[in-house]
Amino acid sequence: MGVALAHHRKILVVDDDSLVCDSLKELLTLEGYAVDTALDGTEALNKVKQDSFHLILSDIHMPGLNGIELLKELKGLDSNTFIVFITGHGHIDGAVEAIKLGAYDYITKPIDDTRLKFTIQRALEQQKLLLSYQNLKQRLKPWDLQDTMKFRDRKMEQLLELVHTISDTQASVLISGESGTGKSLLARYIHSQSSRKNRPFVKISCGSLSETLLESELFGHVRGAFTGAIRDKKGKFEEAHGGTIFIDDINSASANLQVKLLRVLQEKVIERVGGNTLIPVDVRIICATNTSLQEEVARQNFREDLYYRVNVVSLAIPPLRERLSDISPLAEHFIEQFNLIHRRKVKGLSKTAHQVLLRYRWPGNVRELENIIEQAVILSPGEYIIPEVLPQYIRESAVCTVPASTDLSLDDALGHAEKQIILETLERFKWNRQMCAQALGISRTTLFNKMKRFQLMEHRRQTPGRKPGIKAGGQTARF
Ligand SMILES: Nc1ncnc2c1ncn2[C@@H]1O[C@H](COP(=O)(O)OP(=O)(O)OP(=O)(O)O)[C@@H](O)[C@H]1O
Ligand SMILES: [Mg+2]
Repeated sequence: MGVALAHHRKILVVDDDSLVCDSLKELLTLEGYAVDTALDGTEALNKVKQDSFHLILSDIHMPGLNGIELLKELKGLDSNTFIVFITGHGHIDGAVEAIKLGAYDYITKPIDDTRLKFTIQRALEQQKLLLSYQNLKQRLKPWDLQDTMKFRDRKMEQLLELVHTISDTQASVLISGESGTGKSLLARYIHSQSSRKNRPFVKISCGSLSETLLESELFGHVRGAFTGAIRDKKGKFEEAHGGTIFIDDINSASANLQVKLLRVLQEKVIERVGGNTLIPVDVRIICATNTSLQEEVARQNFREDLYYRVNVVSLAIPPLRERLSDISPLAEHFIEQFNLIHRRKVKGLSKTAHQVLLRYRWPGNVRELENIIEQAVILSPGEYIIPEVLPQYIRESAVCTVPASTDLSLDDALGHAEKQIILETLERFKWNRQMCAQALGISRTTLFNKMKRFQLMEHRRQTPGRKPGIKAGGQTARF
C-alpha cells in the first residue's frame, strides 16, 4: 500500500493549533499525500466546498465550528470524504459519538505516528473499495445470499415460526424494530412465503418524501392534479395489485395520509390524487416502524383505528444486543457474501474477534455488523478475522472487565466491576432507575448513591452487552 496508494490522495488536516497542523502536514507529505490545513471547522468546510479531499483528519474540540459540527455539515454535502478524528485521552465519549454519526475512526493524543499512518492507509483503502463496491452493488442483481435470513436465537426462531404461520394469509402485518434489525428483509421474506410471491412486492417509505409527493406516489395522480402532473400516473397501490405493498416508517405518516390509508384498508379502494374514480385494489399490506406505534397512539400522533388495522399481526424484531447468539451465523453469512464480492477467502471469525463482537452494544444492529464484517473481510491479512481489523471503537467499547494485570486494590477493582454492572443495567432499562434498582435488588436510594459515587449521573456512554454461550449451527430461512 503506502506511497502507491498515497499518490494523488488529498488530506485536509484541521486543528486550531497551527503547530499540530504543521507537523502533521510535514509527516503526511513525507508519506506522499497532498496535504492542506485549516485552523477550524469553518475554514475546513470552505476548503471542502472548493476542493475535494479523500480524507479529513480533524481535531474534535475547536473554537467556532467544532469537529462534530463539521462532520454533520459534511454529511449534508453528501460527500465521500472520510473523516478521522484526533481526540484527547479524556474525551473518548465525544469520539464514540462521532463514530455513531459516521466518522470513520479516531485516534488518541499523543499521536502515535505508526498508528496514524496505518489508520489513514486503512481508511483510504476502504474508501477505494467502498466506492467500487457501490458501483458493483448497483450492477448486481440480488442473488440468493442477499435473500437469506440467518438466525440462531430462540426469540428469532419463535418469530420465524409465527411468520410461517401468517405469511400466506391476507392479514396486515406490522413489523417493529430498531433501525438495521432486518425489518425490510423480513417484509420481503413474508411476501416470498405467500401465494402472492409471483406478484409485485412494492416498497415505499413514509420517512423521506414530502406529504404531497408521498400521496401521489402511493395513490397516483391524474393529469393536471397539480403543477407538474403532465400525465396520469399509477401509484404504488395500483402497482402492487395482486401482490404486497411494504410501507416503511409508517410512524412518520401525516394525519392526513393516515386517513387515506385507513380508507384503503377498510374499503380496499383508492382514488388517484385529483381524480374522482374509485379504483379497487387487492393488496396485502406490511408496515414497518422503528418507534413504538402504540406509544405514538398514546401520544395521539397516530390514529388508533389505523393502528388496529395495520397491526393485525405484530412482529417485533429484537435488537441485535438482545440476541447475541445470532452474531456468529450472521457474521458467517456476511463473510461468505463479502468473500464473493471482494474476492477474498476469509474463513471465519477468530475466537477473540468473536468475543469482541459479543461485548459490543450494536446500536446499528445487523446493518452495523454487516458493515464491520465487510471492512474486516477486506482488511484481513489471514484466514481468520482478528480483533486488529475491527474498528477501534468496537475494540475499546469491548473493554468491560478489570484488566488482568492491574495494580488496582481489590476494593477499587470491585468498584470498577460494580460500576460496569450498574451502567449496563441502566442502559438495559433505558436509564429508568426504578426498574434498574429492582433488577439489581437494591433500593432506589442505594442506586442513586452509587450512581453519584461512580459519577454516572450524567453518563450516557455505550456499554458492552452481555456474553452468552456460543452454540454451534445456525438457521437459514431462504426466500
Ligand atoms: N437475519 C438476517 N440475516 C441476514 N441478513 C440480515 C438479517 N437481518 C438483517 N440483515 C441484513 O442487514 C441489513 C439491514 O437490514 P434491513 O435493511 O432489513 O433493516 P431495517 O430494520 O429495515 O433497517 P431500517 O430501520 O434502517 O430500515 C440488510 O443488508 C439485511 O440484508
Ligand atoms: Mg428498512
